[in-house]
Amino acid sequence: MTAGTHRAAVLCGLGGALPATVVPNSALAAELDTTDEWIRTRTGIRQRYVIAPGEATSDLAVAAGRRALESARRAAADDTAAGDNKVAGDDTAAGGGTGETGVDLVVLATSTPDRPCPATAPAVARRLGLTGVAAFDIGAVCTGFVYALATAASMITAGAAHRALVIGADTFSTILDPADRTTRAIFGDGAGAVVLRAGDPEEPGALLGFDLGSDGAGEELITVPAGGSRQRSTATPPPERDRYFTMQGRAVFNEAVLSMSKSAESLLDRIGWRGTDLDRVVAHQANVRILRAVGEQLGLPEDRLVINLDRVGNTVAGSIPLALAGAAADGTLRPGDKVLLTGFGGGLTWGSAALRWPAPHVEPVA
Ligand code: COA
Repeated sequence: MTAGTHRAAVLCGLGGALPATVVPNSALAAELDTTDEWIRTRTGIRQRYVIAPGEATSDLAVAAGRRALESARRAAADDTAAGDNKVAGDDTAAGGGTGETGVDLVVLATSTPDRPCPATAPAVARRLGLTGVAAFDIGAVCTGFVYALATAASMITAGAAHRALVIGADTFSTILDPADRTTRAIFGDGAGAVVLRAGDPEEPGALLGFDLGSDGAGEELITVPAGGSRQRSTATPPPERDRYFTMQGRAVFNEAVLSMSKSAESLLDRIGWRGTDLDRVVAHQANVRILRAVGEQLGLPEDRLVINLDRVGNTVAGSIPLALAGAAADGTLRPGDKVLLTGFGGGLTWGSAALRWPAPHVEPVA
């Protein structure tokens, strides 16, 4: 799939959010049979954040969404000041369209919704003052944000939406087995969000294409076995461990490297970029060794990889937009950079997207 010729989806706002509580490796080592050294050397992670009792995914989604909307508002104000408040194909410049933000679509990628039913996106939209807009959740685990981005961008290029808030948010701390040292070491809670608007395929921030894929043969590799219709239809209480997230770490590691590299290469081929052209790769933050292996496959030195997992761990659907927000805020991403996003997750699923970096105003994340 490539972006339309006349109308593109353009990234114009970005923000991230983390909960208040930091859990350093030393806290896990005090509680479980693990060490700071093992976690750092095998994963690259030093700490992660977790929500407080009573908090939920929507709280992080709203916080990240609010920051992305503010970032888009500032970008629109800059355009107005520059006398350029009406870009080609955008009939909802800020101040018009649905409410003050012009947003008419909210897509939330999450695998830890506030409740099994209904979707969390409508509540998030309402809390952001976006009552009445289309709002739905997308579940593709760690690839969720790329799937949500592709969905929202396609709705914009098709004319079904004009301005979209796309959020990736997860709180895996709520589904981890407290006794599982592997998953407790890897996952953290967090959220990131972008605003997409209709615009011109030639302008910075235009999404240039997507590569999406899946392989259900791997559904057992990353799963919460209980709680869905397959288990509930039996009317038999599940064993306690089946209520928790499980992962076959080594197999997942290998699949992650293979899938992200292949997906990235296939997208690069389609849009006519070479791996070595890329200024930055923002890959799903699963394990620093996975990131390095993907970089090697693409022929890139490590300094082209955006890495924030040392501070936040694997935040699932929050991972890519949170890494984007951090890298935009600290200047790692520069206007005009050729940027590739690539993700991998449960399902199995994978996906990539490419864009030239615009110049959004982004607040530092924690
Ligand atoms: N502390 C200490 N030891 C741990 C540990 C921890 N936190 N977690 C796992 N181990 C142990 C295991 O019990 C196992 O012990 P054993 O060999 O006695 O059975 C051993 O470490 C595993 O070693 P190894 O297989 O060499 O580890 P690894 O290099 O594959 O690293 C993961 C394990 C889970 C960190 C790694 O496979 C990984 O990152 N996988 C991908 C996970 C992921 O990204 N998931 C989400 C994808 S979207």
